[in-house]
Amino acid sequence: MVDLHCHILPGLDDGPKTIEESIAMAESAIAEGVTRIVATPHSSRRYFFDFALVRRLRDELQSRIGNKLELATGCDFHLDPENLKSLRQDSSIYCINQNGYLLVEFNEISIPPAMDQTLHEIQLAGMRPIVTHPERNRILRAHPERLKKWVQQGCFVQVTGASLTGGFGPVSQKDTLRWIREGLVHFVASDAHNTRSRPLRLQPAYDVVLDQFGQEKARALFLDNPLAAFEGRDLPHVPELQDESSPPRKKRFFFF
Ligand SMILES: [Fe+2]
Repeated sequence: MVDLHCHILPGLDDGPKTIEESIAMAESAIAEGVTRIVATPHSSRRYFFDFALVRRLRDELQSRIGNKLELATGCDFHLDPENLKSLRQDSSIYCINQNGYLLVEFNEISIPPAMDQTLHEIQLAGMRPIVTHPERNRILRAHPERLKKWVQQGCFVQVTGASLTGGFGPVSQKDTLRWIREGLVHFVASDAHNTRSRPLRLQPAYDVVLDQFGQEKARALFLDNPLAAFEGRDLPHVPELQDESSPPRKKRFFFF
């Protein structure tokens, strides 16, 4: 498997505090058969993204892990106007393995309509936005039509592994499964932060996808598509969008 979204570098954000914890995360990934990880620290109002430091920590961690796992860097990029300025100055430092795919995160308070245009501008600048864990975002769960519109305009979607196993509650789990069925999802990643509450564990989520959708879909979401993004290639699996919600469901009333 290839994990595109992981807070594995120590001391940068709300990820691991020490390099020992980073190493433990990497070892648990290796044990599950993960061969490549993209270290994606936050870039947001709260966390400053220092590319030189990110690369230095990557090099240090890579040398401690050895060649059992390939470590690249990217960013969990929070979309807000201030942050966009830095993206315009130098986009590649934020992209997955500096290859053009960009993880974008939305806040939970408001997603202004102008974001549609912002995503379009990011695409025009040559990047390929990947919307991270919409199943954990209240606004997008309430308005999946916005997510669908972004996918129609060429954006991609990454869900969190733990959402598939109920780690973020039954609503997120249900929406994740429905969106996979509807063809809205292109990647599953760990979004791991530590060894305890947010561990780097993908196998249980892989098993859920395997069980519900079969091997081809599981490989697409955990290996083939993430590997293509890692290497900067077009995705081999871009599903047709199925709209389960149309025609609109009628309200049902139950009388007992
Ligand atoms: Fe994240």
